[in-house]
Amino acid sequence: MSQRPIDKLCDALQDEFDRDPRGGKGITTLLRAYQAERRDWEEWSLWSDERYTRNLVACRESFELLILCWKPGQQSPIHDHAGQNCWMSVLEGQLEEIHYSEPKSSATAGQVRLEKGRAKSLAAGGVAFIEDSIAYHLTQPSGGARFLQQLLLRQRQVHLAIRCLRSS
Ligand SMILES: [Fe+2]
Repeated sequence: MSQRPIDKLCDALQDEFDRDPRGGKGITTLLRAYQAERRDWEEWSLWSDERYTRNLVACRESFELLILCWKPGQQSPIHDHAGQNCWMSVLEGQLEEIHYSEPKSSATAGQVRLEKGRAKSLAAGGVAFIEDSIAYHLTQPSGGARFLQQLLLRQRQVHLAIRCLRSS
């Protein structure tokens, strides 16, 4: 049985993470090439009127790959990435990403009002990268597109596996 294009993408991504556990420059090239040539992501295109959906394609040792499906007016919360590298690839539609950061000096401990930073639009074929030292962010569809499909690649944290051995 021949391998599906999305499975080939996952194998190629794993090779990249094997070379560089944080993900190398080749990641962006692979995501762009997949978007340009393939349509087999539609198996994971699931939509909801309630909120955007996150559909797991693959969970490998080094990464998770998801397809996110958005309708107009749906948006993510402002969020961080828990120390992980994260790539966003637009499959169809247009994505808007808005950065937020903590103010340099905050007068009061406890609640902090985040400062809005730059907004950037990403069209189909575009790939963007985010990690915590860059900013927090919010993402949503933009440009009046009817819908947005996005590939989300998230580096997984490497945890030490603790094995419990039991003598018989
Ligand atoms: Fe994010």
